[in-house]
Order: sequence, then C-alpha cells, then structure tokens
Amino acid sequence: MTRFDGAATISGYARYLAAKTTVDDRALNRQVLAELCRLMPAGAPRVLEVGAGLGTMVARLLDWGVVGAGEYVLLDADRQLLDCSRRWLRDWAAARGVRSELLPDGLQVGDLLVRLVHAELGGYLEAAHGDMADVLIANAVLDLVDVPAVLPRLLRLLAPRGLYWFTINYDGESIFAPGHPHDDQVMRAYHRDMDERIRYGRPAGDSRTGRRLFHHLRAAGAPALAAGSSDWVVYPAPDGNYPAGEAYFLRSILNTIRDALRSRQDRVEPTDLADWLAERYRQLAAGELVYIAHQLDFAGRSPG
Ligand SMILES: C[S@@+](CC[C@H](N)C(=O)[O-])C[C@H]1O[C@@H](n2cnc3c(N)ncnc32)[C@H](O)[C@@H]1O
Repeated sequence: MTRFDGAATISGYARYLAAKTTVDDRALNRQVLAELCRLMPAGAPRVLEVGAGLGTMVARLLDWGVVGAGEYVLLDADRQLLDCSRRWLRDWAAARGVRSELLPDGLQVGDLLVRLVHAELGGYLEAAHGDMADVLIANAVLDLVDVPAVLPRLLRLLAPRGLYWFTINYDGESIFAPGHPHDDQVMRAYHRDMDERIRYGRPAGDSRTGRRLFHHLRAAGAPALAAGSSDWVVYPAPDGNYPAGEAYFLRSILNTIRDALRSRQDRVEPTDLADWLAERYRQLAAGELVYIAHQLDFAGRSPG
C-alpha cells in the first residue's frame, strides 16, 4: 500500500497499527490472497473483519482493488481505536482523493459503507446475530484468542459458501539479528507469556497459532483451501534508515516484550533482560537491527 500512516494525528497503539501497515503489505501471502480473490463473490459482498483495529486492512483492500462496493464491518473491543479509525480512514480517503462521508456508526468511502462495531469477540459470538458475512477477515488477531473455542462460532457468522481469510497468524518463531546470547531465554519467556495470557476474562493467545490452525480449521469443518507464510521481515535500508514508520513498529515490538517480561523475574533474569533490551534498542537507533517473525495466512470456505 502506498504510504499513509496519518502519524501526525494518532498516537500509542493506533500509531503502532499504522506503522505496521507497510510491514503487513510486504508480508501478506499473495498466493493465499489470489485464492481469496478467485473465490470472492461478485457484486457488493458483506465483509466482517474482527479485531480490525485502526482499519488499515479495509484501506489496503480498497487500494489493492479487492473490495470496492458493499458493506465492510470493522469489529473491535477497543472503543478508542474505533473512534480513531473513523478519522484515520477519512484522512486516508482524502489523501487518495476518494470521496468519503462520516456517518453516525462509520463512514462511506467511495461505494463502500464501512460500519464500526464496538464489541468483544467472545461476547459478540455469544449473542445471536442475524447478519451473515460473505467474507470473514481476521488479521493479526487469531493468535490473541482461544482458537479452539472461538473458531467454530466465528465460522457460523459466515453465509453458506462464504469465505474466510485469516492472516498474519504468529507461529512461534521470532528472530532478532545480529544474534545475542540471551535471545533464547527472552523468546522462550515471551512465548510462555503469550501462551498463558488472559484477556477479557478468557484465555487469549497461543504462540504457535499458525501451525495449529491447519488442524483447528479442519476440526471446525472448514479446512484451508490455501495457506502460506506471511513472515514479517523488517530491516534497514542501506543508509541505515527504516522505511516508513517501521522504526516505530520495531520500538513497539521491543516495548511489548519489555512490558510482558519485566515483572517475570521467575522466567528471565532481570539483568539479562535489561542487557538484551539495551542492546536491541541501541541496534535499532544505529539502524543495525533486523527482525523476522514467522506467521501464516489461510483462506477457505465456511463449513459445509
Ligand atoms: C494486533 S491488533 C491487529 C489490528 C488489525 N487487525 C491490524 O492488523 O492492524 C489486534 C486487534 O484485535 C483487537 N482484539 C483483541 N482481542 C479482541 C477481542 N477478544 N474482541 C475484539 N477485539 C479484540 C484489539 O483491540 C486490536 O485492535
């Protein structure tokens, strides 16, 4: 996607999601996306994206010509993020010269009606919903939920012959280069933190979501029709600068690891963690740090 991060008007987590856009653009598996496009219903489909965050995916799919008309619902548990999303998408559309209009529950972008739904996914799935989706999207989200519990109910939101596209599912491998003696200790502790995380009162994570989705999708009656890797690969340009907002993205990744582990002295030695972080922040500032995260994308049809 052409660069638009709107960073001047956003901060915190929203800014991280904006900075992640170009990293995801490179990472998303094009063969899996091509299969989604091949199967996509003609006309004006109803798309539901869960854990949609700032809405960078709808912007990308408009840019890439994957969606254009119909309805696109952004569902997220974070109200502030959704509020931010409305303005961010309006600014994104203005930067593209695309007509947009703010609406009470979303916005119109060209021929696409974007609706914002504030809901926690588990609670949303427990309530009855009449509106079925033709396409269901989750980008960088399924590794934050209890997939065996959530997936069967999530797939019930799909209309018969509806499509899912589940992308950027973390799969247990993060590489920071150059190597550091504490890499294994830090990443082992971080993966354990992911595996034991509780959010919204529910289990919320699995550090090996990617590979396990093959089995979970099959068990839910919706085996993948296409799957492939979508690794994040972030590296500095020859002049030592990171592209777009990717230095901010890398700093956010390091901060996330720091915040998850700084109170876990039972998992990682505090001095080892401090050494590791200090060296990684230094390498980032010097334009020396390379980061690779292994992830997987999937596309398929609703069960039955
Ligand atoms: C890593 S972000 C990804 C956001 C967006 N899909 C993207 O790739 O830019 C995860 C998003 O999922 C949302 N989320 C996490 N758990 C959720 C839940 N149980 N219900 C609804 N949203 C959730 C968060 O608020 C956040 O916006």
